[in-house]
Amino acid sequence: MDHPLIQGGKPGLFITGTDTGVGKTLITCAIAAAIRRQSPGSPGSPGSPGLPEASGLLGEPGEPGEPGEPGEPGVPGNPGGVRLGVSKPFASGCRHEREGLVHGDAEALAHFADCKQPLNVINPIRFAAPLAPAVAAQQAGEPIDWAALGRSLAVLERESDALLMEGVGGLMVPLDPDRPRYTVLDFIVAIGFPVLIVVRAGLGTLNHTAMTARLLKQAGCKVAGLVINGYIVDPVETDDPAIASNRIWLEKLTGVKVLGVVPQVDPVGAQPEHGRIDPAVLEAMEMTYWPDVMGVARVVGGRKQIDG
Ligand SMILES: Nc1ncnc2c1ncn2[C@@H]1O[C@H](COP(=O)(O)OP(=O)(O)O)[C@@H](O)[C@H]1O
Ligand SMILES: [Mg+2]
Repeated sequence: MDHPLIQGGKPGLFITGTDTGVGKTLITCAIAAAIRRQSPGSPGSPGSPGLPEASGLLGEPGEPGEPGEPGEPGVPGNPGGVRLGVSKPFASGCRHEREGLVHGDAEALAHFADCKQPLNVINPIRFAAPLAPAVAAQQAGEPIDWAALGRSLAVLERESDALLMEGVGGLMVPLDPDRPRYTVLDFIVAIGFPVLIVVRAGLGTLNHTAMTARLLKQAGCKVAGLVINGYIVDPVETDDPAIASNRIWLEKLTGVKVLGVVPQVDPVGAQPEHGRIDPAVLEAMEMTYWPDVMGVARVVGGRKQIDG
């Protein structure tokens, strides 16, 4: 894409990772839940229907709850309310449902953001094969439908005040079989959002994180921060001495701030696709005020202010 995919300059955050399976979806869902708590008056925030419980494991997602009225920042009765949109532009490894291909990441994001758009808007490009999108598209004999992706983003942008977007894999994943060198990194540049990097806690993360941060900076992206996922607090539970020192060294090496350290939790509490996130993960993500990271306008005394 040679033109920006997001036209209107809405605040947003792109969540990438050093690899696939590092916890992008879990962290993005926990950030969505944190934003809803940190943004009074937003649909699903305290006092509105549909808020995930803060303590205890969250229940199974049932029927989507009745939405509150779409939040309008600055209107009386909804001061500072943020309509949070979520996007998973590309997903592979989807399952077949009667209505078509569905990915658990899109379901998880929609649930925790209390986002009302249909799953095919949240996740317009879907493949069944668990492969990089360019490879999956080639095997399926389908070109990447950039026009459909652009239409989805236009809807999300129109109907949201801020957008959380989860990438696929890491930065160098190819997206388009017709342009084999076009990767997630190029897509992030086209989107223009600041970028959060989800990284592993243990040995190997310094190298992967430094490569990811350096590539982003060289491409001119704003790197908003790092989230360390899978941190093991008790040294008795791990034989990896790197975990203890990595937190400091990740910042020294990359010059990027660590915005959250998320513990390794029981697998039962790491199933956002089933509506379940361990409270320890939610709490770790609530330590950062995400509307500021995203540059969301606050309404103070009836006047809009832009933070950050
Ligand atoms: N902090 C954690 N504690 C326990 N399990 C985790 C944690 N973070 C991620 N997982 C598990 O690791 C797997 C990959 O996480 P996911 O969020 O889907 O990664 P990604 O979106 O980067 O592919 C999932 O099965 C998830 O339940
Ligand atoms: Mg994911």
